[in-house]
Amino acid sequence: MLRTHTCGELNINNVGQPVTLCGWLQRSRDLGGMTFIDLRDRYGITQLAFNMDTNAELCEKARKLGREYVLQITGKVVERSNKNSKIPTGDIEILVEKIEVLNESKTPPFTIEDQSDGGDELRMKYRYLDLRRTPVYNNILLRHKMAIETRNYLNGLDFVEVETPFLIKSTPEGARDFVVPSRMNEGEFYALPQSPQTFKQLLMVSGYDRYFQIVRCFRDEDLRADRQPEFTQIDCEMSFVTQDDVLNTFEALTKHLFKVVKNVDVSTFPRMTYADAMTYYGCDKPDTRFEMKFVELNDVAKGKDFKVFDDAELVVGICADGCSEYTRKQLDELTDFVKRPQIGATGLVHIKFNLDGTVKSSVDKFFIEADLKAIGEKFNAKAGDLILIMAGVREKAQKQLSELRLEMGERLELRSPEVFSPLWVVDFPLLEYDEDSQRFFAKHHPFTSPKMEDIELMETDPGAVRAIAHDLVINGVEVAGGSIRIFNRDLQNKMFKLLGFSEEEAKKQFGFLLDAFEYGAPPHGGIAFGFDRLCSLFGGSESIRDYIAFPKNNAGRDVMLDAPSSISTEQLEELQLVLKK
Ligand code: AMO
Repeated sequence: MLRTHTCGELNINNVGQPVTLCGWLQRSRDLGGMTFIDLRDRYGITQLAFNMDTNAELCEKARKLGREYVLQITGKVVERSNKNSKIPTGDIEILVEKIEVLNESKTPPFTIEDQSDGGDELRMKYRYLDLRRTPVYNNILLRHKMAIETRNYLNGLDFVEVETPFLIKSTPEGARDFVVPSRMNEGEFYALPQSPQTFKQLLMVSGYDRYFQIVRCFRDEDLRADRQPEFTQIDCEMSFVTQDDVLNTFEALTKHLFKVVKNVDVSTFPRMTYADAMTYYGCDKPDTRFEMKFVELNDVAKGKDFKVFDDAELVVGICADGCSEYTRKQLDELTDFVKRPQIGATGLVHIKFNLDGTVKSSVDKFFIEADLKAIGEKFNAKAGDLILIMAGVREKAQKQLSELRLEMGERLELRSPEVFSPLWVVDFPLLEYDEDSQRFFAKHHPFTSPKMEDIELMETDPGAVRAIAHDLVINGVEVAGGSIRIFNRDLQNKMFKLLGFSEEEAKKQFGFLLDAFEYGAPPHGGIAFGFDRLCSLFGGSESIRDYIAFPKNNAGRDVMLDAPSSISTEQLEELQLVLKK
């Protein structure tokens, strides 16, 4: 080793010891008689001291060293006169006797400190420098811990980690595939997997019983803070299980991770049906860190000659405790919020239950005080509360109010990243109707089993069939999703038929799976966690990019590599993507 210690471990107990340290020069301060350098490595920062009186030559040398130079220093640990309680090594410094410059560095394009002066794009271009920063390093370390703990935990439950291929066949369902041209098979393409779904089901047919894989998945979809084109799943599958078994197993894994990584105890995860999630929160991934449940108001709000309510399919509201004192300006801000194009509401009605007992609303023209009080009773509203109401086509009004609910949660500081509120959402619809293409799509994926009691509805009312599907939602983030699978060929064929696949099409796309199901497929089911999302949730950040060592930007580009990029004509020719000249 070129060093005796790291830059994070020396303390008062080491005073008097000779040591050799290696690291990067983070910062130097020249105070005339003394020069100080902060030497950094992955473990921490140690202060180096140079004394002009006792070793002028070395001090001069130290003053000439630039930021991010790689140094090896030898010296003695001494107690500091000016202690720094903020860092573990803050009681000591090294009185340096020898410096070796292991490598020089250009001046970095941004400061490599906890608070950097570099913008997002610049830090991404020089990601290897950004990764030197302690907060970024801590995120990557958190991810590492989560992965190791997950592996150990699942290994302890007899799960087998199996790698599945990345070069597979394109499938029409789900998001868009990334495709890879095949040089050896002219005009043909592989697809990168959106998930190892079919492989894990095949592994169940093969008798592996319990499978997991921490695996990269690829989806060519529009990006957001919680979506990357390549992301990682903790992908899992189990045989001979009910949905309860799957939920209990992965609830236990999640609790284990909370305990060992964050030292947080979370109680049993509540379960909520999709229908209830929509009714009470207007979305299928409710943030349950706070209540503010929806109350439907059709019976008390309609028939008062207020056209907006009378014409609406749904009148629905929330009650914000203690907000009756909201000013005109604050209420206008909320109206502007729901009118933004991303939300698209036409307006917002409010009722104030004032502290003096009076009730005032933005629709006083149509509602007398008794009417407003009747609405208030539905919420158990008390003096000091503010009711916010939206109206329109059911699903649209729910979605818009759901956004407003989150905004109110934010304003009232009810969404602390230090509070964790996990929830299982179950009983999703099996299918989703797409008006544009006039057909049903699988809400989860085509292998998800319908609930046995709803199978008959597949013929008569497919849209009403519920699936044995589950999502794990934590703080409004969809962290994991899965289902019990269809393992019977007839039922699978029925499902394909509902999805508009002819028998030939189904055979062409999924023949291998249908064939496999002829050879004794066990009942099975599973789940996949969005690993990047889980890490960012644990780390308290909204952006999964912070937990990916080399992420893409919002346009799907790697600005460091400058990818994607064009390829040479020779490569294109070899891949038969252009004709040879
Ligand atoms: P699903 O499509 O729900 O299920 O994906 C599982 C989880 O993966 C995460 N996720 C993403 N994370 C980051 N970027 C993305 N682009 C992205 N897309 C999805 C989410 C999601 O809950 N094969 C099934 C699982 C199963 O049925 O077992 C599947 O992939 O957190």
